[in-house]
Amino acid sequence: MLVTSNEILLKAQAGGYAVGAFNVENMEMVQAVLEAAEELKSPVIMQTTPSTVTYAGLDYYLANVKTAAKRGSVPVVMHLDHGNSFELAMQALRAGYTSIMIDGSHESFEKNISVSKAVTEACHPSEISVEAELGKVGGKEDDLDGGDDNPYTDPQEAKEFVERTGVDSLAVGIGTAHGVYKGEPNIQFDILSQIKEVVDIPLVLHGTSGVPDEAVKECIKRGICKVNYATDLRIAYTKGVKEILAENPDTIDPKNYGAAGRKEVKKYVMSKMKVCGSVGKA
Ligand code: 13P
Ligand code: ZN
Ligand code: NA
Repeated sequence: MLVTSNEILLKAQAGGYAVGAFNVENMEMVQAVLEAAEELKSPVIMQTTPSTVTYAGLDYYLANVKTAAKRGSVPVVMHLDHGNSFELAMQALRAGYTSIMIDGSHESFEKNISVSKAVTEACHPSEISVEAELGKVGGKEDDLDGGDDNPYTDPQEAKEFVERTGVDSLAVGIGTAHGVYKGEPNIQFDILSQIKEVVDIPLVLHGTSGVPDEAVKECIKRGICKVNYATDLRIAYTKGVKEILAENPDTIDPKNYGAAGRKEVKKYVMSKMKVCGSVGKA
């Protein structure tokens, strides 16, 4: 069943758990995420970034995820991750995505507000949920470089941002970064709590690959309702493929190594659904 983010994130917020949002790159990854969700009776979000969308098109990924959702019984969201323009957000809306992120975090506060508000006003008549970002997630996601300057979300700005844009969920900068970490991430739990105190919509954690599970759980306690995992899924998939190709160098059937990658992704996603606390919530 394909649903909007609001349908599952508001429940998660009320229940004090989070829903995992997993970046999918191909059919096998979609299948793996759905299988994990079905087995654990967990709601789930699948998402694609602009570069993934460029690779095959919104319609290809949506068709895969819709098929998965139809075969399963758990609620599934199809989300545009880090939408980098109003135009792409509208393309995803028209294609049938049920949730859209507009990432204006690299813009000025006022420009971020105006683009996030415009996307929200365009999506809400169709009851499609909108995520925006304020503050910065470090590292490089797609072609958006988080940079190193003043990454933390200001709680008072967050309050004003949410009031003026009407967005449904907010990605916050609290010290996580996209990709793998060199050391341990230095997460500002206090800032998260301060944001939670003045903002009442679900909060989103980005850059979660490489964040220790205990730190993720602490973030969920403090108001995070959506947890994004991307890099680690790609690592898991590629590990599965590489291992089977190393063992059987003569393999030429994409089904063989696709299945090996799929198995690794499923295992990873199941472990993260447990961290999120979404098991049995479907
Ligand atoms: P990671 O690649 O660190 O898991 O970040 C995922 C993310 O934030 C996707 O938007
Ligand atoms: Zn992200
Ligand atoms: Na990360």
